[in-house]
Amino acid sequence: MPFITFEGADGAGKTTHIQLLADHFAQQGYPVLVTREPGGTQLGNEVRALVLGKAVRPISPLAEAMLMAAARAQHVDEVLKPCLAEGRLILCDRYIDSSLVYQGVALGLGLDLVISINEPAMAGLWPDLTILLDVSPEVAYERSILGRQDADRIESRGLAYYRQVCAGYQSLAAKWPERFCVIDANRPLVVVQADVLQAVSSIL
Ligand code: TYD
Repeated sequence: MPFITFEGADGAGKTTHIQLLADHFAQQGYPVLVTREPGGTQLGNEVRALVLGKAVRPISPLAEAMLMAAARAQHVDEVLKPCLAEGRLILCDRYIDSSLVYQGVALGLGLDLVISINEPAMAGLWPDLTILLDVSPEVAYERSILGRQDADRIESRGLAYYRQVCAGYQSLAAKWPERFCVIDANRPLVVVQADVLQAVSSIL
């Protein structure tokens, strides 16, 4: 079964689309695992709280990238590889491309450094398919921030940061066109969901 990752700016709708897909394929009898990064393991959830929490404590870009990679190493070893070996269909909310975009592009570490930190963490596990829910930075920003009091540490970085994130994703999709499927997520949910379902079905 394939390892499928979902990427996009905060507010792109990944979580909703992943849940709809999981319900669809579970009903068809597929053994589905839904997981996310940072997270998916106890250590991953602790890293998530550490990096996304709003405690006032500086975290340098390199430290942030390494924390994400540490969470990923645990996730790959404890969850992703064993579940793939069991033949499960894995739907993962964020993976390597989030590190490449958020730490590599938006925080300026560069793709090469982020890849070199993550190679040992991934142990060869690249996604079979990456669905990019492509939203405009303005839509993403509005959906995820406006009207919310509880934006996390990364979401609080502002519209300019969202612009870098959205542009970063597009450049990754151009770099790896065979792995990425780019879906215009500015459209209504049902329309987007139909495209997501078709993309995933086509590799099953
Ligand atoms: P997400 O789970 O989409 O947040 P939410 O629960 O609010 O929907 O994303 C968590 C945040 O972590 C998001 O801002 C992107 C960031 N992130 C990185 O910066 N690097 C990474 O490697 C990963 C996996 C996530």
